[in-house]
Amino acid sequence: MSEPTDTQRMEKIVSLCKRRGFIFQSSEIYGGLNGAWDYGPLGVELKRNLKNYWWRVMVHERDDVVGMDGSILTHPAVLKASGHVEGFSDPMIDCRTCKAHLRLDQLVEKKGVTQCPICGGKDLTEARQFNLMFETHVGAAADESSIAYLRPETAQSIFVQFKNVLEVSRKKLPFGIAQIGKAFRNEINPRNFTFRSREFEQMELEYFCRAEEGMKWLHYWLEERLRFYENIGIPRERLHAREVPDEERAFYSKGTYDIEYDFPFGGQELEGVAYRTDYDLLQHQKASGKSLEYFDEETKQRFIPHVVEPSAGVDRTVLALICDAYKEDHAPDEKGKMETRVVLRLHPRMAPIKCGIFPLLKNNERLVAKTKEIVALLRPHMTVFYDESGAIGRRYRRQDEIGTPFAVTVDFETLGEKDVALRDTVTLRDRDSMKQERVSVNDLVNNLTSRIT
Ligand code: GAP
Repeated sequence: MSEPTDTQRMEKIVSLCKRRGFIFQSSEIYGGLNGAWDYGPLGVELKRNLKNYWWRVMVHERDDVVGMDGSILTHPAVLKASGHVEGFSDPMIDCRTCKAHLRLDQLVEKKGVTQCPICGGKDLTEARQFNLMFETHVGAAADESSIAYLRPETAQSIFVQFKNVLEVSRKKLPFGIAQIGKAFRNEINPRNFTFRSREFEQMELEYFCRAEEGMKWLHYWLEERLRFYENIGIPRERLHAREVPDEERAFYSKGTYDIEYDFPFGGQELEGVAYRTDYDLLQHQKASGKSLEYFDEETKQRFIPHVVEPSAGVDRTVLALICDAYKEDHAPDEKGKMETRVVLRLHPRMAPIKCGIFPLLKNNERLVAKTKEIVALLRPHMTVFYDESGAIGRRYRRQDEIGTPFAVTVDFETLGEKDVALRDTVTLRDRDSMKQERVSVNDLVNNLTSRIT
């Protein structure tokens, strides 16, 4: 079997995502809304597993981080002070031939002539700045005074609430405020499936520290974040920490790394880890006239803390997890003939369903009743899927394709009909090795929970 090309691989992944209920085009029955996606029953579980794990390691397992959940509707003053109203834009160009709106960096050059990447047209407009923020109106009056924005990043509400959170949490520097939530950008060209969307989710930490420790924490967080990706199953060799050069970096940043992943469509950013200095807090202090200073009780000094920000995309990480996990290998069918198996080798921690549970036969009441007992036993601890239809091999394949790491089959030995020593034991099958072992029902919860947490 020849290896699929990267384009074929991506097409297969998009098709699997729709067919098995990970990701659907938003408003699909009306022709779709470009740049917006809906997560189906399996996609929402995968996304939650990712967000919950991020929250666990970034907030719950640390003494120095607390969480918050800010509003999406944002006061225009916040985004004026942060620089988004003036400067959060991409240079845009129109192709007069095919009428496409393009980002400047999408244009192609052939024989020294700049061309439209879609139709090859050379009749292009001058570049103009296009602000990426979604503007809306709050209340009945749709005028200048009622403008609000859908936040383009979650970070700003953290800066604006810095003083409140500091006071209630009574944290000392260095400490962080974490947030997971939706962000909106009117991208000129949404593309590469969910990679560049107009509505997406971010997982952001603003880690406040003393100025002299900024670079130290930048490197600390870069390493922590790389380790995070490894712990959800993305190997280090497909991750790259790219140091963003001076000319590409925000003017206020003293150092930024992009964590990139080798997607089938190329190496692309999953997360930015940026040392943002004291820029944001200073801007908000100046614009609001409210002090955002930190008081150091030991030295009796007041100062604006600096901040290091690891900012990750939920949707991009979900896409990276699916791309990385997608494999085609070979497995025997019911008659022992080898066939192609599509398998998502998701880390058990991320898998939407942890265990498939099957009665060997669906028309045997005792087998079905025993299987349902096991479903009830495992359900409080993990997501499970009961399946009684089709041959066992088919049921395994259906779970392999959605990344379920374990499958339990209840057979006549479980009922003690063949050998009393095997009563209350089941076969436990591993998705990746396809090996089966006989385990006691009493050990199932411990055996599986230790492998999925
Ligand atoms: N607060 C810093 C910030 O927002 P960013 O590099 O613009 O920095 C951070 O965004 C992360 O958010 C990106 O690394 C990416 O994972 C995600 N992200 C940004 N724009 C996105 C888009 N249009 N679609 C999906 N994810 C996006």
